[in-house]
Amino acid sequence: MGKIYAIANQKGGVGKTTTCVNLAASLAATRKRVLLVDLDPQGNATMGSGVDKNAVEFTIYDVLMGLTRTENAFEPSPEGKFMVLPANGDLTAAEVEMLSLENKERRLAGALSAVREQYDYILIDCPPSLNMLTVNALTACDGVLIPMQCEYYALEGLSALINTINTIQSVLNPQLKIEGILRTMYDPRNSLTGDVSAQLAEYFGDRVYRTCVPRNVRLAEAPSFGKPVIAYDRQSKGALAYIALAGEVIRRNELGTDTPELATAS
Ligand SMILES: Nc1ncnc2c1ncn2[C@@H]1O[C@H](COP(=O)(O)OP(=O)(O)O)[C@@H](O)[C@H]1O
Ligand SMILES: [Mg+2]
Repeated sequence: MGKIYAIANQKGGVGKTTTCVNLAASLAATRKRVLLVDLDPQGNATMGSGVDKNAVEFTIYDVLMGLTRTENAFEPSPEGKFMVLPANGDLTAAEVEMLSLENKERRLAGALSAVREQYDYILIDCPPSLNMLTVNALTACDGVLIPMQCEYYALEGLSALINTINTIQSVLNPQLKIEGILRTMYDPRNSLTGDVSAQLAEYFGDRVYRTCVPRNVRLAEAPSFGKPVIAYDRQSKGALAYIALAGEVIRRNELGTDTPELATAS
């Protein structure tokens, strides 16, 4: 059965979407069967995967509201060798409309349970807030992958996310754990980077991925061509980093180096 990972951090601009698209493509490049679920009304992961968010028949909105079967909304990424469950602005309404539905926290879990066997990895791109959509992602997933920039306030925001993860774990999803912490837009010349890295290692130990994603302009350019970076510039530092990350994700999953306990903040 496939692993479902939510890529979450309520802070915007930390590299969630970039990680979701490029990890999906890098896993797919190793012949894993991958589904990317876009759970952000901005639809950036959809567009970055090369799927036009305004031209699709169904989106994750229709799936969450029970208006269509999950598979009906799938779109292949033209250059990515993975499937996309797209999102667009319609999803903003779902956040409110879902509140009056039965099992409002488990809509996504229900939708994915039907297709989970067809994939090795399902990656969920979360919106930049701890709202009902993110609650759905955390309830549906096996683990959370947290991208973060190594800056001073990054750690402050992290405790709110970890509290939410702990709450969801105790109330809705006992399996939930932190799959990994990913350092993004990494700049080793910045002195704060080393301090924050050391603190992350202290809190999270081996949950911190060895791979650091460097600041790389190719990663920022690729989405405007609707391509994952490995299809845009395979030799770029950004592409190499996400290929390395995919290797780490697979090793953690297949060699069972996962640790069951959940890290706690404080
Ligand atoms: N490693 C990186 N190097 C350079 N630019 C990056 C990198 N990661 C992300 N970006 C850019 O930073 C912006 C925010 O990234 P994004 O993945 O959209 O963050 P989030 O989904 O967390 O809001 C985007 O313009 C993206 O292209
Ligand atoms: Mg995003």
